Amino acid sequence: MSMAIVVAFLTSLFFISVSTLGNALSLNYYDQTCPDAELIVSKVVKDETTKDKTVPAALLRMHFHDCFIRGCDASVLLSSKGKNTAEKDGPPNVSLHAFYVIDNAKKEVEALCPGVVSCADILAFAARDAVVISGGPIWDVPKGRKDGRTSKASETIQMPAPTFNISQLQQSFSQRGLSMEDLVALSGGHTLGFSHCSSFQNRIHNFNSKHDIDPSMAPSFAGRLKSICPVNSQAKNAGTTMDPSSTTFDNTYYKLILQGKSLFSSDQALLTSPTTKTLVSKFATSKEAFSNAFVKSMIKMSSITGGQEVRKNCRVVN
Ligand code: HEM
Repeated sequence: MSMAIVVAFLTSLFFISVSTLGNALSLNYYDQTCPDAELIVSKVVKDETTKDKTVPAALLRMHFHDCFIRGCDASVLLSSKGKNTAEKDGPPNVSLHAFYVIDNAKKEVEALCPGVVSCADILAFAARDAVVISGGPIWDVPKGRKDGRTSKASETIQMPAPTFNISQLQQSFSQRGLSMEDLVALSGGHTLGFSHCSSFQNRIHNFNSKHDIDPSMAPSFAGRLKSICPVNSQAKNAGTTMDPSSTTFDNTYYKLILQGKSLFSSDQALLTSPTTKTLVSKFATSKEAFSNAFVKSMIKMSSITGGQEVRKNCRVVN
């Protein structure tokens, strides 16, 4: 190997390690600068959940949607401005809600330590708190994310859709460094919350040329969904809870998949590859196995970074 190649190799190694170090998150990131940040966020999430039981599901999904576009950089929190339509107003995000919870938490954190804690970190804390408050596992959130300055509705086309099959899901996750195990574990987020009819309409009316209803769906379940979501219904808010215990973070979601009672094609698709099917069965049998895998995958997903600054107001760039 020539000297020039060795030098180029060492230089690139140096840059890779410096850039990784620069973005690395740490557990003690705010120990000196804002030690009470997480406590404040937990309290706000708790108070707001007491007033509205749908808050935890909203926060967990918000964090996922943040991380999948430009990394976890709070780009999902920015408001549209002038000619720029922000992610928030992109099709998959119009059903996100409870943004005010992050605003309230940010306001309280800013009062104590101005300009220190990023909106992206506050959202990551809030997503963890949402899981804990719903009876799920607890974990330490690595911190030090920065907030981004770009948010484009057009980029939300990169979100996985509920009609995706297993190879589309795999591709969407692997593009972000996430594995099939991450896909199965994180899909367990669907133990919380609500879905509008439009998200599973494809499965219950005109599924394909042979079947009106998706044959992988239990007929009794399909019948119930059809009565909630009739063809051409104009009811904007119609829909159903993701699972019967939709405010409890448990492994019911996986049991339902095995019974053909999951809502989305993307949920049911987890049975169509041997690796993911085995994991669905494992998580359906063991809440503990699910909890451990979920924590591991949440930390992985929420470590996809991307931002540059610590925003003062989560809705606008500095
Ligand atoms: C694997 C790909 C995924 C797809 C295709 C997907 C799709 C969807 C769709 C279509 C809805 C319903 C939206 C509506 O109709 O209002 C939804 C809701 C939800 N998703 Fe996912 N999702 C995925 C992964 C995740 C992940 C990774 C998480 C979190 C770890 C998550 C958490 C949630 C939650 C909590 C809700 C309920 C939100 C609420 O009640 O406000 N999802 N998802």
